Amino acid sequence: MTKALPTTAPRSTASAPPGSGAPLVAVEDLNLTLDVAGQKRLVLRDVSLTIERGEALALVGESGAGKSMTARTIAQLLPDRATTTGSVRFEGREMLGLRGEPLRRARGGMSVIFQDPRAYINPVRRIGDFLTEQLRTVARVDRHAATRRAQQMLSEVGITDTACRMRQYPGDLSGGMLQRVMIASALLADPKLILADEPTTALDVTTQSEVMAILDELRHDAGVALLFITHDLDLAAAVCDRTAVMYAGQIVETQQSAGLHHHPRHPYTAALAAARPHWERPRPRLDSIAGRPIGAWEAAETCAFADRCPHRMARCTESGSVPLTHESGRAVRCVRSDELGSLLQGDSE
Ligand SMILES: Nc1ncnc2c1ncn2[C@@H]1O[C@H](COP(=O)(O)OP(=O)(O)OP(=O)(O)O)[C@@H](O)[C@H]1O
Ligand SMILES: [Mg+2]
Repeated sequence: MTKALPTTAPRSTASAPPGSGAPLVAVEDLNLTLDVAGQKRLVLRDVSLTIERGEALALVGESGAGKSMTARTIAQLLPDRATTTGSVRFEGREMLGLRGEPLRRARGGMSVIFQDPRAYINPVRRIGDFLTEQLRTVARVDRHAATRRAQQMLSEVGITDTACRMRQYPGDLSGGMLQRVMIASALLADPKLILADEPTTALDVTTQSEVMAILDELRHDAGVALLFITHDLDLAAAVCDRTAVMYAGQIVETQQSAGLHHHPRHPYTAALAAARPHWERPRPRLDSIAGRPIGAWEAAETCAFADRCPHRMARCTESGSVPLTHESGRAVRCVRSDELGSLLQGDSE
């Protein structure tokens, strides 16, 4: 089965049904500190974002920006001795501080798909056992019904000869095939939210495109919300309604994916857009962003991007911390965003 990725702006997806109130996910002023060799290290700073029911939100940014840790905090899959402040609400329920059975139940509404399926799937268990375990133990579905449901889901993700696949082991399957199995497993849990952390990075380009198209289609059909982590701004725009850009453990900009490339509001977003290849206008060299990405623990209290920003002025580093300013469905964390406007548009092209 070969499917093509959507090339136009994504279909508009369902937002919260009228009267349903709160967003599906609401992260507010989240700070995360990890323990690194006995030292406390701040890795997320004042992260705020929302995901509506059925909405797809992309999270982009350079390596180490805090994308995976944001997803892991939402699912409460954090390393030992991690500490959090702020709030993460899923379906209106506070996730921070949940433990044991209440956490397991709250997490039941979300599924996680990771970059490397081989790291998360037991190599000595058959695909069929992996897929049916949750249905049988959590949803109490009987063995025959669980097998039928798993085979049906394998067909939906483009896998043929499903009875045979169910008897195979992870090592018998290619990376692309195994990622389809992971997507099938994620959807079998009937989630309201899928957290997909670079689900196609380990795959070749053709398989990547097929797997993304399957995820996109199934997500729309089931009305599931998606937090999609990627380095690829174009893929984010093809698959997601909105995109949030992270730098040094902070969200620096959020807006409709379709507008991000052409109307960036933050210099970092413009720099990321400029650093991606333009197939229609090949250049001898790609632009790169001067300097190196930093972690939240190294960033100044003022603008974290200032050291690398071509538009830096004295007041960028003289004022206090820069708030995320919301305006007509967009949010930006830059003291100069109003005056930079069209200048950033030029930067991103
Ligand atoms: N288990 C851990 N213990 C301590 N620090 C960690 C741990 N995992 C990640 N970090 C640190 O937290 C910061 C954020 O990491 P995170 O994995 O969220 O980045 P990312 O944006 O997902 O990067 P990438 O694009 O490379 O996946 C990084 O500085 C990283 O070094
Ligand atoms: Mg990551």
